Amino acid sequence: MTINSDSEYIHGGVPKTDMQRLEVSERRVLDFSVNLNFFGPPPIIKEKWPELFETIEQYPSVNGDGVAGYYHSVCGVSPHNFLAGNGSTEQIYLVARVLKFRRAAIITPSFHDYERASLLAGVEVLRCPLSPNNDFTLPPKEALIEIMEKVDALWIARPNNPTGNLFDKNLILELADQFPEKWFIVDEAFVQFLDDWKEKSLLTENPEPNVLVLNSLTKFYAIAGLRLGGIVGHEKVISRMKHAKEPWAINGIADRVASLLSDCGDYDEKSRLAHNEEKERVFLALRDMDGILPFEPSVNYILCQWLKTHNLDRLLAHLLKKGLYLRDCRNFPGLEKNFFRMGLRLPEENDHLLSALSSFKAS
Ligand SMILES: Cc1ncc(COP(=O)(O)O)c(C=O)c1O
Repeated sequence: MTINSDSEYIHGGVPKTDMQRLEVSERRVLDFSVNLNFFGPPPIIKEKWPELFETIEQYPSVNGDGVAGYYHSVCGVSPHNFLAGNGSTEQIYLVARVLKFRRAAIITPSFHDYERASLLAGVEVLRCPLSPNNDFTLPPKEALIEIMEKVDALWIARPNNPTGNLFDKNLILELADQFPEKWFIVDEAFVQFLDDWKEKSLLTENPEPNVLVLNSLTKFYAIAGLRLGGIVGHEKVISRMKHAKEPWAINGIADRVASLLSDCGDYDEKSRLAHNEEKERVFLALRDMDGILPFEPSVNYILCQWLKTHNLDRLLAHLLKKGLYLRDCRNFPGLEKNFFRMGLRLPEENDHLLSALSSFKAS
């Protein structure tokens, strides 16, 4: 399907809006629509908060040197191959604006901002739908080649949000090699949650001239409010983007926090282990439940289809009354038929949700 009109901004879960829509009186909720590290931010940020505060009178580095330092020390990325961003969302819009491709393919369902950024930059969008019937796997290479022949850029997320698929990195590299004049923009916002993530990620590969890899620090370090992310690519394209970027997009506190994060190895390991265990446990519990079809997760969120009633609203209202909030995924193209996403939280909180899901009565 080709989309070429402008696009409205769609934000994910907003509990208050759904409470009003479903006529549930306002209350505090456990928000399972977010998909951040369930341990919360690394403790060092709070410990150093007074020191961080003291720096707010100074201008930060122009391009976020602390963030570049993080990616250099953790992923071995040279600062020449890196551009820091105010979250990876900012980079998505920057890429679309600067690279000036004309027609882009987007693997859907996926994060909405690839489409919106493309449309705002005047790019025509070709949606390439995945199907729940084969667990949202990518089409075979031949089909992807046919798609690439029609466009000059591809947006693809690995792991994909909200489906959770980790598309084969070698396949992407092979396509990039076969189409050297086309752009491959790979969003790896959640990649740090994977076991052996450095082997699975494209961030640690030698950057190809036509491949850009986006990454976020806001998910894995639970710092969505601070806004930190980056883009890794060939020196030439990074310098083109640096040239087009506003100065001081990374605020001074965020930039200093990024430097602290390179020393959080214990937190990183503990987080990966706990999220992987919890992902397996919750997935199996959901799979055993009547009326819910969960799709195999790779990281800290699980996409599910609700089959017990025709309208997901009844489930959402039931949960809201118990102070639990899920991400309604019906506004993702292809997920209109009662899909929802559960972001993992602490084990006891997940248990609370699992028991509320099983207590739903269809009649
Ligand atoms: C796949 C994907 N990419 C990027 C982002 C944006 O992350 P950031 O907070 O770094 O802007 C999100 C946020 O939900 C996401 O799901």
